[in-house]
Parts: sequence; C-alpha cells; structure tokens
Amino acid sequence: KNELALSGKKVIVTAGGTIERIDPVRYITNDSSGKMGFAIAKVAQEMGAEVHLIAANTSAEPPSGISLERVQSAEDMYQAVLKQWETSDMVVMAAAVADYRPREVAQTKIKKKDSVFTLELVKNVDILESLGRSKKHQFLIGFAAETGNLETYAIDKLERKNCDLLAANDVTVDGAGFGVDTNAVQIYDRSGMVEQIPVQSKEEVARKLLTLAAGRMGGVLH
Ligand code: PMT
Repeated sequence: KNELALSGKKVIVTAGGTIERIDPVRYITNDSSGKMGFAIAKVAQEMGAEVHLIAANTSAEPPSGISLERVQSAEDMYQAVLKQWETSDMVVMAAAVADYRPREVAQTKIKKKDSVFTLELVKNVDILESLGRSKKHQFLIGFAAETGNLETYAIDKLERKNCDLLAANDVTVDGAGFGVDTNAVQIYDRSGMVEQIPVQSKEEVARKLLTLAAGRMGGVLH
C-alpha cells in the first residue's frame, strides 16, 4: 500500500566534477557543483530507492542520510561505480567526468621555467560507455552537457553509450546547467525526445526524470 515508485531498487548516482591531478598542488576540474546529482540522489531516496551516491569535487552540501562515497579522478569514479554495478538496478551519471587527464602526475610541484608550458593529456575511460557495453538488467541514465546542437549530440551520446534515457542540458541557457539551483533538460530515448522540462528546481527536474525512468523499469507508480 505504501509502495513507492523506486522501492526495492538500488540506485547509483554520480555527482560533481572529477579532479585530474597535475602535481601535488594543481589539478584540472570543471564547474560542476554536484547540485544536479545530489537532487537526483535525494529524490530517488524519497521515491523509496536504496541510494548510493558517488561524488567527486563538489561545492554544494550533500543530502543527509544518504550513503556517500567521495572520489577524485574519473578512474576513481569508474572503480567506485564498478563495485556497485552488478547489484544495482539503475545508474544515473550526473557527474561531469573529465574526458582527459595529464599523461603524468608530477610527484613534486612543477617549477616555473619557459614562457610556454605544454601539458600532455591522455583520454580517460568513458564510464557511461563502459557501463552501456556491459549492461544487463540495469537501467542506465546519462546526461549530456552541451553548448549547442543539443538534439544531435544527445542522440549520439544516447546511442553510443547505450543509455535507456539521456537528459540533455544546454548549459548556456540562463538558469540551466552548472552551479545554479535550477535546470532545464530535454529527455531522450531511442525514439527521440520524450519530455521537455523547462527551467525549474533541480529537485523537480530529478523527480520528473526518475518518475519517467521508474515507469519504464517496471516500478509501481502511485
Ligand atoms: O553539478 P551541477 O553544478 O548541478 O551541474 C549539473 C551538470 C551540468 C554537471 C549536469 O546536469 C550534467 O550535465 N552532467 C553531465 C556532465 C558531462 O560530463 O556531460 P558530457 O556530455 O561530457 O558526458 C556525457 C555523459 O557521459 C554524462 O552522463 C557523463 O557523466 C558521462 N561520462 C563522460 C565522460 C567520461 N569520461 N565518462 C562518463 O561517464
């Protein structure tokens, strides 16, 4: 009677921006505050899920009462997600994962020298793409942070990463994307856009996204 849409489901949520170290005092990261991922984790728990949150660098306050694992790099996040993967029912990749990392991490602080300094980067593992390849029963939700051509890139990422749903946000839109408390997303599945969510709180966006997902994964909706 008291059943919620995600009760009995184990949901993994990633949040924040990964940190790719250059040397002991410097690193590469991005503008992700963690707010979108935190909102998803909070709402998933309210909907009855057992939630495990994996967070990289964040500036927002994580939701209380939710299992939280801190990671730094994309590789750390990958390992943390893999540990939960077999037993999870849904994975939501809201984290902003670095595509590249420095080829070498200097063990001591890099000294100022020439007028031009070249930092060599190598490709990171694509966590979502890897999950998409080994997906069995899991429901996989990806995000796409874009600065234009939302639909083209969203559909490309959805297919390439084998997601069940993909939430695309145009991060150039006022009140959407990095850092703010609100977001606007277009949700895609294999057939195209299935829902357009105008600017509203990240919690409301999370509720709409997870309600759609729960319905599709056979959860009981009340
Ligand atoms: O944290 P906030 O400040 O609240 O901001 C929210 C957000 C803008 C970060 C969020 O809404 C969002 O869009 N997250 C995804 C950011 C991102 O990395 O997008 P992408 O288009 O580069 O990647 C596409 C998908 O692949 C994402 O689900 C990403 O988690 C995943 N990915 C990317 C690269 C990589 N090496 N591994 C991945 O798994």
